[in-house]
Amino acid sequence: MQERLKELQTEALEKISQATDLKELNDIRVSYLGKKGPITEVLKGMGKLSAEERPMMGALANEVRDAIASGIEEKQTKLEEAAVQAKLATEKIDVTLPGRPVRTGNHHPLTRIVEEIEDLFIGMGYTVAEGPEVEKDYYNFEALNLPKDHPARDMQDSFYITEEMLLRTQTSPVQARTMEKHNGKGPVKIICPGKVFRRDNDDATHSHQFMQIEGLVVDENIRMSDLKGTLEVFAKKLFGEDREIRLRPSFFPFTEPSVEVDVSCFKCGGKGCNICKKTGWIEILGAGMVHPNVLEMSGFDSKKYTGFAFGMGVERIAMLKYGIDDIRHFYTNDVRFLKQFSIQE
Ligand code: DAH
Repeated sequence: MQERLKELQTEALEKISQATDLKELNDIRVSYLGKKGPITEVLKGMGKLSAEERPMMGALANEVRDAIASGIEEKQTKLEEAAVQAKLATEKIDVTLPGRPVRTGNHHPLTRIVEEIEDLFIGMGYTVAEGPEVEKDYYNFEALNLPKDHPARDMQDSFYITEEMLLRTQTSPVQARTMEKHNGKGPVKIICPGKVFRRDNDDATHSHQFMQIEGLVVDENIRMSDLKGTLEVFAKKLFGEDREIRLRPSFFPFTEPSVEVDVSCFKCGGKGCNICKKTGWIEILGAGMVHPNVLEMSGFDSKKYTGFAFGMGVERIAMLKYGIDDIRHFYTNDVRFLKQFSIQE
């Protein structure tokens, strides 16, 4: 009996050491230590033993049972540990792999120009004003000194929606809207960027929709020299400190006198090149002193108040500044074009 027990121990420990997974190990536990296992079977024969032998055999049986049980426990820990290691090996992350770059977008070139100009004027005490794109004929034309039969209306082919409503052809209506809100009291100092619409055929330099920026200052004692000084600061900021400006007489119904403003060519410095068409000057905007009729129609006393205004095309400024040769690039949104305007700051 003693031998049989020893035999069972050796046999079981041998099987335990060969077990390769937890299931197998559990089968060994059941078959050796279970109620129907061989040890129980051996102990059934205890009745035949003498009273002296019995406790000895009992102790031995317990020893064998304990040896097998701790053998199983040890092996179980090993197998579990191995399972964890195997899992870790398959789920390993190689932290030395280079990361995937995160693609970031950038501002549209027109947004950049608008923000640059806004910042400049905000720095000079202006506020940014906005107005509707679907505008009343009254604000787009009449309040700007362009009555219904005025021939200058032909300068801006318009998209009419009804007799009285149209897509604004310029940002100038925001002048009239803002002055109205001021109830005849200055100062007014605004800059107004926005979309405008004209019945033009699209080509390299024309678009039926484009952007303008309008400026307006109304106060007591505003003079033409204030306009010139302001535009000089603007031109130098946008096109370089060495730039100069010149004013040429022009006509706009809402200003008197009216001027066209040129900046000295930033490419050739004034000598004459293909950008300035050999003149040394590039036209950048229209401006003038606010017409007394415009002041009066929007509730300002033109004997007390004077003002200046200016308006420019954002696409034109961007095309000049960045050397873009076709206005349609702004609207087709080809990323190869847009990517070139990412800011490295
Ligand atoms: N609104 C004019 C245009 O679209 C541009 C302009 C010229 C605006 C002179 C002004 C200005 O405020 O004073 O052609």
